[in-house]
Amino acid sequence: MNLVVTGAQWGDEGKGKIVDYLAKDAQIIVRFSGGANAGHTIVIGDEQYALHLIPSGILYPDKFVILGAGMVIDPVALFKELDMLKERGIDTTGRVFISDRAHIVLPRYIQIDKERDAARKTPIGTTGRGIGITYSMKCDRDGIRIADLGWKEKMDELEDEDRAFLAPFVQRLSEMSIDQAYFLMHHRNSQILFEGAQGTLLDLDLGTYPYVSSGMSSAAGAAIGGCIGPRRLDKVLGVFKAYSTRVGNGPFPSEFEEVVSTGSTTATEVEPVETSSEDALCKYIRETGREYGVTTGRPRRCGYLDLVALRYACLTNSIDSLVMTHLDVYDTLDKIKACIAYRITGEDGKEHIIEEFPASIAALNAAKPVLRSFAGWKQNLSGCLTYDEFPTAAMEYIEFIERFCETPIDIVSVGYDRKETIIRKNPWGK
Ligand code: GDP
Ligand code: IMO
Ligand code: MG
Repeated sequence: MNLVVTGAQWGDEGKGKIVDYLAKDAQIIVRFSGGANAGHTIVIGDEQYALHLIPSGILYPDKFVILGAGMVIDPVALFKELDMLKERGIDTTGRVFISDRAHIVLPRYIQIDKERDAARKTPIGTTGRGIGITYSMKCDRDGIRIADLGWKEKMDELEDEDRAFLAPFVQRLSEMSIDQAYFLMHHRNSQILFEGAQGTLLDLDLGTYPYVSSGMSSAAGAAIGGCIGPRRLDKVLGVFKAYSTRVGNGPFPSEFEEVVSTGSTTATEVEPVETSSEDALCKYIRETGREYGVTTGRPRRCGYLDLVALRYACLTNSIDSLVMTHLDVYDTLDKIKACIAYRITGEDGKEHIIEEFPASIAALNAAKPVLRSFAGWKQNLSGCLTYDEFPTAAMEYIEFIERFCETPIDIVSVGYDRKETIIRKNPWGK
């Protein structure tokens, strides 16, 4: 069986933790999109790992991992990450493969990414890892793929600066290079886990364009970036947090109104709603949920769970089963709220209630959340070993989301540790 794990919000949903958990039943883990803009955190007891390019199954000693065709690979970041794993006692020898169709990030792309974003009237707030520029070069048919390292004419055509940069990496990259389609064909009896990066709302086509990343981060990207074709993907899992976060700029209808801005350009455009309590909630969630970017260290913008957006993610990824993370962050609250619709005042001055996620950034910026309240459970969920042990109020929150999205929540994560994971239904079908 082949499973896809995709982010159902704006990234950082806890995909790394979930992929690591599910990887114990897989033989091969394939990252299908993005690059070193991703930051996937895995916590096992006292050990914490932050992975940017290497798929999250690497911590098991016997798994093969593949950096897929849809990825953009910065060789400096890749070898730094491999060195980090080696220093920490993780032997990756002979287990890390790179699709020969993956594209290479050059240092000058990183420089251009930073300069272009800074020059934008409203910056996207990119991670400055050269991601958008590398994907642009790919679309313009001027990119450099792993396979091209062995193509003399292409290498001869490169600028001296680029050739000099690549030279020390050619041998090591070529040794890891595989033809992904045939590799997976030869391993067709294996269980394969496809690990998404970013999230649906950061997907170039499905997300809040232009405030998105540049890869195909939604589930469909697994078919192309995974070199496997859509009919070989058996099940899609969508990971989401019990609330919402976003790093960088762009619309975020259910964002908490913060008194001190975190650098968000949209925060000031949102009408204050009970400012003081939302501000307190925001700060509480940021500290309790450790909501700081893994890649850039930026504080994440926080807000209520946006069910309009989550239902859109279920629809556009054909999500079979949802994975809810960070439910423990709500353990101490009296009351919990989630956004079930948007209130938008049209040009006619009339107020409209919208239940569908719009493409228009103007509409999303104007949208105010319609909130539904739920009772808190005021209990430490990480003490629960099974779903049956959950307090009724937590079950009511979960089951409302299932009904709203018409999608089951089969896994609930109640802490960052691998062990703090409640399986209601095993996605591998056991
Ligand atoms: P990813 O990019 O989707 O892999 O997510 P990140 O690793 O960037 O961010 C998720 C953060 O939440 C990490 O620090 C995880 O250790 C942590 N985390 C994951 N699941 C849970 C959970 O259920 N509860 C809490 N409190 N933290 C979690
Ligand atoms: P993981 O895999 C959260 C955001 C950036 C910025 C926008 C474009 O850890 O969930 P880019 O550098 O990709 O051109 O930046 O996308 N972004 C992420 N936000 N999690 C991520 O990855 C992200 N990868 C990119 O903050 O707003
Ligand atoms: Mg992350």
